[in-house]
Amino acid sequence: MSTRFELKPLSGRTGAEVFSVDLAGDLPAETVAKLRRALLEHHVLVFRGQQLSPEEQLRFGRRFGELERHPFVAGNADHPEMIDIITEPEDTANFGGGWHTDLTFREAPDLGSILYAVQLPPAGGDTLFANQQAAYEALSETMKGILDGLVAVHSAAEQYGPRGYSTRSRAVATTDTDLAAQGVEHPVVRTHPESGRKALYVNRAFTARIKDMRRDESAALLEFLFRHAVKEPFTCRVRWEPGTLTMWDNRSVQHYALHDYAGHRRHMRRITIRGDRPV
Ligand code: SIN
Repeated sequence: MSTRFELKPLSGRTGAEVFSVDLAGDLPAETVAKLRRALLEHHVLVFRGQQLSPEEQLRFGRRFGELERHPFVAGNADHPEMIDIITEPEDTANFGGGWHTDLTFREAPDLGSILYAVQLPPAGGDTLFANQQAAYEALSETMKGILDGLVAVHSAAEQYGPRGYSTRSRAVATTDTDLAAQGVEHPVVRTHPESGRKALYVNRAFTARIKDMRRDESAALLEFLFRHAVKEPFTCRVRWEPGTLTMWDNRSVQHYALHDYAGHRRHMRRITIRGDRPV
C-alpha cells in the first residue's frame, strides 16, 4: 500500500484535508507516523469519503494510542470506548455546543479525538476549531510573561453538574455530582509533549478559576483569554459530509459543535485517545 498522501490546508493556521488515504485499510506504520506529524503541524485532519465500520474506526484510533471511555457519556453497547453523539430533531441542546477542550477536568485529558459522520442534517452542524498555539503566539511578550507559570483549576461542574449545559444533551448518561465537582489543576500555558510548542490551555466550559488570584482578577483575566483564544484568525471550520472523519489534537485546539439544524437529526461516532498530564 502506498504511504503517500496529499494535504490541503483548511485555513491559514488551522486544519488540513488529507487526500488518498483509505482509513479502513491496514495502514503502514510509515503512513501513521506521517499522519502524526501532519497532526502536529495542522492540529486538525479531515478525511473525506471514508466508509468505516465502528470496528474500523476503533482500529484506526488504536494506531495513535490507547482509547478511553468518557466519564459522563454511556459508551456504545458493543464498543464502550466509542460514544454515539446524536442530536434528534426536537433537541434544544447538542453535545459539545460551546467552545471547549475535551476533558480538561481530568488530570490527564485526552490526546485527541476521532469523529466520524454517520448521519447529517441537510445543512449546518459544522464543527469549529481554534488553534491555541496560534492564540498564545499572538499575545504580547508582557502577557506571555504574566501567563507563563500561572495555574488554573478545571472542573466539570458547569457542564456535567446539576443543571449543567451538557446534561441537556441526550448523550450524557450520568450526572455524578461528586465527580463533576472535583477540581484539577493545569498550567494556563501548556507545552506540547511532542512539538515543544506552547499553547493557551484554558476553556470556557471547564476552566473555573486561576489559582492564587482574587475571584474578580481571575474572572477578568479568564474572560479576556476565553475571547482571545477563539478569535477568527486562529480558527477553521469543518463542513461535514457523510463519511467525513476528523481527527484533532486536543493538546493544541479547542472546538465547538454548532447546533443550527433544529428539526433534523445528526449522528456522529467519537473515540478519544488517552493523553498525558499537561505541563
Ligand atoms: C465534541 O466532540 O465536542 C462534539 C463535536 C461534534 O459533534 O461536532
